[in-house]
Amino acid sequence: MHPISRRDFVRLGAGAVAAGAAIKSTILESTVLAAQAAPSGRQIRFASIGTGIRGCDLLRSARKVPGGVLVGTADLYDMHRKAGVEAYGTDVPTTRDYRSLLDRKDVDAVIVAVADHQHRRVVLDCVAAGKDVYCEKPMSHNVADGQAMVAAVQSGKRIFQAGSQRVSNVVYQKAAEIYASGRLGPVTYIEGRTDRNSPSGAWVYPIAPDASAETIDWTTWLRDAPSRPFDAVRFFRWRCFADYGEGVAGDLYVHLLSGIQCITGMNTVPSRAYSTGSLTHFKDGRDFPDLLATLYDYPGVSVNLHCNQNNNSGEPIIFYGKEATMVVNGNTLTVTPQDTRPQPESYSLNGWTAEAKQKYLDDWHAANPGPFAKLPEVETFSAPPGYDDTAEHIANFFRAVETREHVVEDEVFGNNTAIACHMGNHSYFSRNVATWDAAAQNIKG
Ligand SMILES: NC(=O)c1ccc[n+]([C@@H]2O[C@H](COP(=O)([O-])OP(=O)(O)OC[C@H]3O[C@@H](n4cnc5c(N)ncnc54)[C@H](O)[C@@H]3O)[C@@H](O)[C@H]2O)c1
Repeated sequence: MHPISRRDFVRLGAGAVAAGAAIKSTILESTVLAAQAAPSGRQIRFASIGTGIRGCDLLRSARKVPGGVLVGTADLYDMHRKAGVEAYGTDVPTTRDYRSLLDRKDVDAVIVAVADHQHRRVVLDCVAAGKDVYCEKPMSHNVADGQAMVAAVQSGKRIFQAGSQRVSNVVYQKAAEIYASGRLGPVTYIEGRTDRNSPSGAWVYPIAPDASAETIDWTTWLRDAPSRPFDAVRFFRWRCFADYGEGVAGDLYVHLLSGIQCITGMNTVPSRAYSTGSLTHFKDGRDFPDLLATLYDYPGVSVNLHCNQNNNSGEPIIFYGKEATMVVNGNTLTVTPQDTRPQPESYSLNGWTAEAKQKYLDDWHAANPGPFAKLPEVETFSAPPGYDDTAEHIANFFRAVETREHVVEDEVFGNNTAIACHMGNHSYFSRNVATWDAAAQNIKG
């Protein structure tokens, strides 16, 4: 006779086995030191176009990367020009007109951090001037912009890095290694979210008191967008408006999708996207919802994303495998094994008599004598304290500029994630399933 074991019971509760399992934790090493130095020791001379919120952050990170040196900046807003110089900490020439930087023969590369509707124009100008480009995410404002950028970069034989820095994060690189090893088993479902619950998280950024048509070159900022009188709200909160941004999809989905592309190796556009959502709290004249949820069909895997600006429940990406669940959250990843060892049925025996149950268990244990392998440990991997994946991403770019080897996030990768963002918005606004027409290279639906 085989008594019903503790294990037979605990298997019923999903967390029970994991709770009893050992946890192994590893701090990963930053690869930035290895990546940053160009083999020749030459420093890449770079200019920065757009020194607002992100441009300044990029310059603070670039200071940590000895493989490059800033030689000039451009921005249309006077305070942002001063802030850029302050962020890098070295006095470099700064201008409103970026074309004067592109004319300089001593500029090898350009970091572009302008509002999304200007990406195409600025990148195409950089490429035409023979510069390599690091362009912030999302690469494109719409499908046509992305296609034009890919064509220009490829025909100009330029190095192009799209700016989703998580792709260079050691935690994401480790996650990619684990995914490729097959340790998760088949993965058919991936979930990701970026949730926030604050005005700042919904881009209600303060308007700087000195903002005016004198301190900002509004006409140039509006180029390629419909003309309108100076509007400081649109300048500072451009993510809310479809003429310049793409809402949560372009701002936040893009990080999740870049992470998923990097970890799974699926460098492709999804075949379908279906979105729903709502604008319930931030009814301030914006064009986009403050909750967006999208189901994507990627080859062999369903991807479910949402961004909610009305509840802060973090920003994990979860890979549900037959053998293990992997969660990437910030600078940590956790792999929790699924208990797939043979087990006797329990739930459906509730309607059996005690005698029939016992006979079933005796037969089951006779047929499955074991012993069964120990459940693998729960494993966590974290980036070291103070880790800066933007510095890592910039270092990867500088190295490619020097070696002409491939960057970690090229124009095709960046274009694919941006198209997926556009499909998410397309479906939300059309109230229809958005499909990718590969022949026409456009979204239908
Ligand atoms: N990778 C990330 O984590 C991350 C984070 C934030 C923003 N971003 C991206 O960075 C980019 C900039 O965002 P932001 O938050 O810094 O916006 P921002 O409005 O604070 O800064 C953009 C700056 O670009 C300048 N600009 C626009 N067009 C220009 C032009 N033609 N010539 C010179 N300057 C020009 C503006 O004057 C402004 O100062 C966007 O593409 C955004 O999506 C990426």
